Amino acid sequence: MPHIPALPPTFRWGVSTAAYQIEGATEEDGRGPSVWDAFTARPGAIRNAHHARTACDHYHRWPEDIALMRELGVDAYRFSIAWPRVQPTGRGPVNESGLAFYDRLTDELLSHGITPLPTLFHWDLPQALEDGGGWLTRDTAYRFAEYAAHTADRLGDRVPEWITLNEPFVHTVFGYALGRHAPGRTLLLDALPTAHHQLLGHALAARVLRERGARVLIANNCTPVHPASGTPADLAAAEAYDTLHNHLFNDPLLTGRYPDLSGYAVDEELGGAVLDGDLALIHQSVDGLGVNYYNPTHVSAPADAGGLPFDLVPIEGVPRTAFGWPVVPDGLRELLLRLGRRYGQALVPITITENGCSYPALDDTERVDFLDGHIRAVADAVAEGIDVRGYFVWTLIDNFEWAEGYTQRFGLVHVDHTTQTRTPRTSYRWYRELIAAHRGTR
Ligand code: NOJ
Repeated sequence: MPHIPALPPTFRWGVSTAAYQIEGATEEDGRGPSVWDAFTARPGAIRNAHHARTACDHYHRWPEDIALMRELGVDAYRFSIAWPRVQPTGRGPVNESGLAFYDRLTDELLSHGITPLPTLFHWDLPQALEDGGGWLTRDTAYRFAEYAAHTADRLGDRVPEWITLNEPFVHTVFGYALGRHAPGRTLLLDALPTAHHQLLGHALAARVLRERGARVLIANNCTPVHPASGTPADLAAAEAYDTLHNHLFNDPLLTGRYPDLSGYAVDEELGGAVLDGDLALIHQSVDGLGVNYYNPTHVSAPADAGGLPFDLVPIEGVPRTAFGWPVVPDGLRELLLRLGRRYGQALVPITITENGCSYPALDDTERVDFLDGHIRAVADAVAEGIDVRGYFVWTLIDNFEWAEGYTQRFGLVHVDHTTQTRTPRTSYRWYRELIAAHRGTR
């Protein structure tokens, strides 16, 4: 029997997925190519040369996947909409059959009492926009708002709340700075304009969505940062990392300012991308903050003085997931309290839009322990005054884990990637009982 967390009766339980990781059908019904189609075709980019042309075949098996969610008893489902299905080249008229897919999905969710929570951008940019510079160009922000308008015009009568972007930090760093994700650019700090253009795109889309009466969230990947020691050099390195990972993406939304990056060899504000009026638009453009949490980060002063202003160091003495990620549930409580301290009254209600772990076994008691620990950490933060409204497990079904291909399994439900058979794990049954038990307190 799961421990019933002391969370408010209105607290929402959910699961999260993303279009590119589950849908497949990349060439069906007029979908245009995305940066991930191009990236997965690059030799060596993805472990075992895996690709997502079929992924979990969710594009055809969505009724089965919704049935799994109905049985699980979630209040809400966070999924993402593939921009290249809606606008195959990222601009111009909509592709009717692309939107129709999300229209059917929305109706089916609602018919089972599950609230749809769509994310508009979970990294699958139309390739045609990337060919014109992608998020390095300001134009992509305007295109994003146009796409948001088209999508909200179609689904907005049934969707009360939207997430604009997923993890702009990871997209900036992995996609444009280090080249480990699509579009595979290796610009290092010259990638910073993409951070601003994503936040600008978010804000322009937020305006469009709010005009249509919706609430707007962003899903930021956040981590509590610790210095490896108390030396001034390690403390400075930790501050630098905290600034680039957390403050850069939360401060403009909540305070209307970017943190000062001048100490880190960035002379003009975000490479000169920030124009007059942008920050006013970005400030207070969220009604809620989505937080994706996986683990804390430990940082030391850099060994090599010419490179980045920090080194990441392993976290010792804690369990690890099958992916090798450290398991530190209390890091989530710490993170939430840090957000409360930094932003005070300016902080908006928080939803944990992703939390989860990779373990392959069907009897995945490690995942049960992981989720239990993290949900308790959320309840502790709530008891300490942080307004957290919901918790979404990453993820419903094993899926395409980006550069790792299908080798990492984050699902409450196991997927046989050859037969597409779905098999609920122990953690699925545990989460179902937890939701039912908490609901009994409503
Ligand atoms: C964050 C991303 O949003 C999601 O796409 C990914 O699969 C999980 N983290 C796990 O790495």
